[in-house]
Amino acid sequence: MGGFIGWAVLVIFWRSMWNENKMIDLKTKKIIVTGGNGFLGKRVVKFLLKRGVSSENIFVPEHKDYDLEKEEEIKKMFIDFPANIVIHLAATVGGIGYNLDNPGSLFYNNALMGIQLMEQARLHNIEKFVVLGTVCAYPKNALIPFKEEDFWNGYPAEVTAPYGFAKKMLLVQSQAYRKQYGFNSIFLIPVNLYGPGDNFDPQSSHVVAALIKKIIDAKNEDNDEEAVWGSGTASREFLYIDDCAKAIVLATERYDGNGPVNLGSGKETTIKELANQIKEIVEFKGNLVWDVSKPDGQPRRCLDVSMAEREFDFKAETSLEEGLNKTIRWYLENK
Ligand SMILES: NC(=O)c1ccc[n+]([C@@H]2O[C@H](COP(=O)([O-])OP(=O)(O)OC[C@H]3O[C@@H](n4cnc5c(N)ncnc54)[C@H](OP(=O)(O)O)[C@@H]3O)[C@@H](O)[C@H]2O)c1
Repeated sequence: MGGFIGWAVLVIFWRSMWNENKMIDLKTKKIIVTGGNGFLGKRVVKFLLKRGVSSENIFVPEHKDYDLEKEEEIKKMFIDFPANIVIHLAATVGGIGYNLDNPGSLFYNNALMGIQLMEQARLHNIEKFVVLGTVCAYPKNALIPFKEEDFWNGYPAEVTAPYGFAKKMLLVQSQAYRKQYGFNSIFLIPVNLYGPGDNFDPQSSHVVAALIKKIIDAKNEDNDEEAVWGSGTASREFLYIDDCAKAIVLATERYDGNGPVNLGSGKETTIKELANQIKEIVEFKGNLVWDVSKPDGQPRRCLDVSMAEREFDFKAETSLEEGLNKTIRWYLENK
């Protein structure tokens, strides 16, 4: 028994030494954060600064100056800011309604942008390329919790498949480039994100922001009831925005593997539970009425998050209750 414990301690020690050794010192690197002015991008930049990266070493290409769907503008970006690392967050995104109305542009914009950007990054000798995938790329009926090895075991939920596949193609590209060119690119799979600074526009918002706005509006209008999309029985997993930003920076620093890695809180919540929690926080006294004529999207979502902890020491810290309170407070102060 004693021998076994000693051996286990030694393995943990070796592993931590190995992880220390392969860690990138981000302070010595020039980093491009595409989409760095977006909801997640702003937090990633903030976290890089907190980690000691100087602001001169971080470049955020503005969409108006560098349209990353255009190869010439990507080339110009790499000339204007010769970088070591690219964290690729730029994307066209939206909630379920936006996905229903825009499957073509979601597929085309995201695939085109990512594929060209990774190719130019390779040609410009980028040392590390970080891709943000999406939980929407998991098979519709993957077993709960979703494990990375099940990522290819089926077709995603139809409504978000075009967006999901556009991102999933970047995993194929990433692995192919590693094999053929030795290009170091990693692929992360975050769940639904939420937090202060989220997009509250009903045309394109995701579920948490959409429900917060809807329920606060219903309260302000003194409604007895408020209709909500779907049956409410579908489940999702939510990751607070600062936790996700931290995970991305840790992975950039410490993970160089070929396989995708889930980023989540590991907690499954039904849409009905989420809506009721928001209703309680904002003190809406009316009833929520579930409109089953509207789609639920993927039936269940919950990730196995052990690989992120194992590979780069990431564990989400913010509970849904704490995150919702902060998000609602931000919305009320900024709407
Ligand atoms: N939000 C979520 O729940 C969630 C969940 C999983 C994964 N993700 C991934 O996380 C990343 C960030 O998402 P987000 O929620 O932060 O989105 P966001 O707030 O919409 O930010 C996206 C950013 O990309 C920029 N962008 C879009 N098209 C561009 C183009 N052609 N050229 C240059 N810049 C362009 C946008 O600039 P403009 O605003 O000026 O157009 C914006 O700054 C995305 O890759 C998304 O797929 C998000």
